Amino acid sequence: MIRLSLNARRSFWLNSKVTDGPVTRTVTPKELLYRFRRQAGAAGISDLELRVLLGHALDLDQAGLIARSGCRLDGDQIAVFTSLVHRRTEGVPVSYLTGTREFWSLPIRVNPHVLIPRHQTECVVERVLAHTCPAAKPGILELGTGSGAISLALASELPSGRIIATDISAEALEVAGMNQRRLGLDNIRFVRNDWFDGLGAREFEVICSNPPYIDPKDRHLDSGDVRFEPRIALVAEDSGYADLEHIIGTAPRYLAERGWLVLEHGYRQGETVRAIFNDSGYRAVTTHLDLEGNERVTEGRYSG
Ligand SMILES: C[S@@+](CC[C@H](N)C(=O)[O-])C[C@H]1O[C@@H](n2cnc3c(N)ncnc32)[C@H](O)[C@@H]1O
Repeated sequence: MIRLSLNARRSFWLNSKVTDGPVTRTVTPKELLYRFRRQAGAAGISDLELRVLLGHALDLDQAGLIARSGCRLDGDQIAVFTSLVHRRTEGVPVSYLTGTREFWSLPIRVNPHVLIPRHQTECVVERVLAHTCPAAKPGILELGTGSGAISLALASELPSGRIIATDISAEALEVAGMNQRRLGLDNIRFVRNDWFDGLGAREFEVICSNPPYIDPKDRHLDSGDVRFEPRIALVAEDSGYADLEHIIGTAPRYLAERGWLVLEHGYRQGETVRAIFNDSGYRAVTTHLDLEGNERVTEGRYSG
């Protein structure tokens, strides 16, 4: 929950640019949403986002918000909501404002040190599960774990799995560790590493990653939520392919015989990524589509 000083609250209240006028102390959630709707809409904030922000300000889920839609709000609650809407109009992603994003039905805590997990990335989890047998206590390596979303989803499905998850960012690993404690999923070991460095001669049944893959020159980096996300989580040299290439080329040293590498990539990178897998000696190279029908995850099996 965001805490504001009295002066800050008064200032947000008086300077609100998204309300039609001062919001009275007797307003209900329903009236407050109505008041904000028009100007928030003009600023590109959807009704759903407004409701999520109001739920966060009131510490209620969406069902609770509906149940309490006729209750009177106090000044603090309105000030917190007003502040959240202001920051959203400045472009701050809703997930950074609420501090949470749902992934694989798990509430994942996020902050500006980590990428906000995308639902497309659930395809990585599906493919890793397709290659693992829970009874075999599979060894899994995730590279570039960020908030820990992929590994936490895998740990929730594979309690007997032995999962190692790495990231180069100490701040990201703090977030991942916090998520692990909150969710009570203790079969993951988070390690600070530059990709494979320092891993030793381990053999994993599956290695997976959603590495940075955006071309540093991509103009989409200047718009939307990505403006607020860590650049180290987004961009890679060589037109976005440097980290994908490094991982595909190095993974065979760490894969068990006939082990799988599963990689997320950009929706226009499928053809090139398949070529890199094939040139590096992988078999059964296949690209899977995300729910929008875009090429999103490519996998291959390495057999020496
Ligand atoms: C696209 S984000 C993926 C985060 C998370 N796995 C997800 O899917 O939401 C890429 C992650 O790779 C990490 N990363 C970037 N360069 C790295 C490197 N050289 N070694 C390890 N991790 C790295 C970033 O810190 C970031 O957390």
